[in-house]
Amino acid sequence: MSETFFLGWVCLLMSLLQCTVESHGPPKSFNVMEYGAIADGATDNSEPFLKAWKEACEWKGRARVLVPQGKIFMVNSIMFEGPCEGHEMEFVISGTLKAPTDPSKFLTENWINFRYIDNLTVSGSGTLDGQGKVAWPYNDCRKNPHCPALPVTMRFDFVRNARVHHLRSIDSKNAHFIIFGCQDMNISNINISAPGDSPNTDGIKIGNSQRIGIAHSIIGTGDDCIAMLPGTREVNISDVVCGPGHGISIGSLGKSGDEDVLSGIVVKNCTFLGTSDGVRIKTWANPMLKDTQAFNFVYEDIFMDNVGNPIIIDQQYCPVPPCKFVPSRVQISNVTYRNIWGSSGSKVAVTLRCSQTRPCNNVVLEDINLSYGRGNEGNATALCSHVNGHALGKQNPASCL
Ligand SMILES: *[C@@H]1O[C@H](CO)[C@@H](O)[C@H](O)[C@H]1NC(C)=O
Ligand SMILES: *[C@@H]1O[C@H](CO)[C@@H](O)[C@H](O)[C@H]1NC(C)=O
Ligand SMILES: *[C@@H]1O[C@H](CO)[C@@H](O)[C@H](O)[C@H]1NC(C)=O
Ligand SMILES: *[C@@H]1O[C@H](CO)[C@@H](O)[C@H](O)[C@H]1NC(C)=O
Ligand SMILES: *[C@@H]1O[C@H](CO)[C@@H](O)[C@H](O)[C@H]1NC(C)=O
Ligand SMILES: *[C@@H]1O[C@H](CO)[C@@H](O)[C@H](O)[C@H]1NC(C)=O
Ligand SMILES: *[C@@H]1O[C@H](CO)[C@@H](O)[C@H](O)[C@H]1NC(C)=O
Repeated sequence: MSETFFLGWVCLLMSLLQCTVESHGPPKSFNVMEYGAIADGATDNSEPFLKAWKEACEWKGRARVLVPQGKIFMVNSIMFEGPCEGHEMEFVISGTLKAPTDPSKFLTENWINFRYIDNLTVSGSGTLDGQGKVAWPYNDCRKNPHCPALPVTMRFDFVRNARVHHLRSIDSKNAHFIIFGCQDMNISNINISAPGDSPNTDGIKIGNSQRIGIAHSIIGTGDDCIAMLPGTREVNISDVVCGPGHGISIGSLGKSGDEDVLSGIVVKNCTFLGTSDGVRIKTWANPMLKDTQAFNFVYEDIFMDNVGNPIIIDQQYCPVPPCKFVPSRVQISNVTYRNIWGSSGSKVAVTLRCSQTRPCNNVVLEDINLSYGRGNEGNATALCSHVNGHALGKQNPASCL
């Protein structure tokens, strides 16, 4: 055997070994401290974070960006972009990230943005502090005519095969999490909070995404705990505690233009505490260009404690009058409400207000036990308009179907 031939084999073996280590061994860590991050809670760390991301993303095996525990990092608007070379990216946030408070830095769409990444995990038990308090007054468009769109705390665009878990997000300026154009993503053990009167601080907003799971999370905000927008399909939500906030919403849909269908949502074993709405489907009574559909929704094993509108389909949604009030062109069908109990803050505990020209189809109420308030204010009632369906089992309030 010639020496070069032998060496050739050794090299091949070694590269195979390295390859095996890179794909099956522990991930290689890229600690932001090694890229010059300064954890004083004031210095902008966007550059060191981006450098750490860039090197991790270029690493051909499993890579982990690490934001260490017990430290506070200020970071301006930042985008972590793929595709990456390796087959798995982890972003471990164990410390606290603080958003800027300087209004000149508000003019960005997002604070932390992940895009075009396959096989991503974001976790670490750390905190994302959106520092929304300083920004919320800018969000009041009645007082501030040039109200800017404030940055979303963490946004995922076109990410596939991802896990987001064990994170805390507080006081976002706009929504806490947005998931757009993503597929196969599980979110769990997330704790989201913002004051009940903070504007537009939705917990998790999902649009144009498929196969999303949300589980074991606590969400209290000034807007929807979870909102699902057009093009969202196959979402499982379970073991979520929501409140304060506007509940778990499908929509709003049908405001204008062309919208993709929304379907296959399961909400199971959730609790609503003092929210303005519980499980809500909302479509605008506005002229749309095209018909669209929303179908196959199941709401099951849900407890409501003093919720304004526990069960509501509102096809005349109009939060900012005046509205034209033409019948909605969104066709809603196959909606099941099963085993929902507790108390309603308003007399009408069940509202099924559908479109005059596209009545709701196959709406099922099964074992509903919602009382009005806690005292002797009288029985709760149910309201139906333009809805086809049936009731099964116990019905309190008396079913209107
Ligand atoms: C994602 O990462 C996991 C863990 O490293 C790995 O087992 C899996 O093969 C990766 N999936 C893809 C699609 O690359
Ligand atoms: C999300 O969770 C579901 C149900 O547990 C599981 O089947 C699926 O593989 C998970 N997806 C990802 C991307 O982890
Ligand atoms: C969730 O976060 C809020 C606000 O930061 C905190 O008060 C609460 O204890 C947290 N809940 C859990 C279960 O960690
Ligand atoms: C949703 O739940 C169904 C039924 O349990 C399961 O087959 C599916 O994999 C789940 N999907 C996600 C994304 O969790
Ligand atoms: C229902 O959700 C709660 C948290 O809200 C959890 O503690 C409980 O284990 C869940 N029950 C089931 C049967 O999954
Ligand atoms: C509604 O449910 C029925 C019965 O399960 C099914 O045949 C129909 O396809 C569903 N409608 C839509 C729009 O998926
Ligand atoms: C309905 O809820 C009330 C309390 O709100 C309870 O006393 C009653 O037993 C429940 N009925 C059924 C059939 O579960």
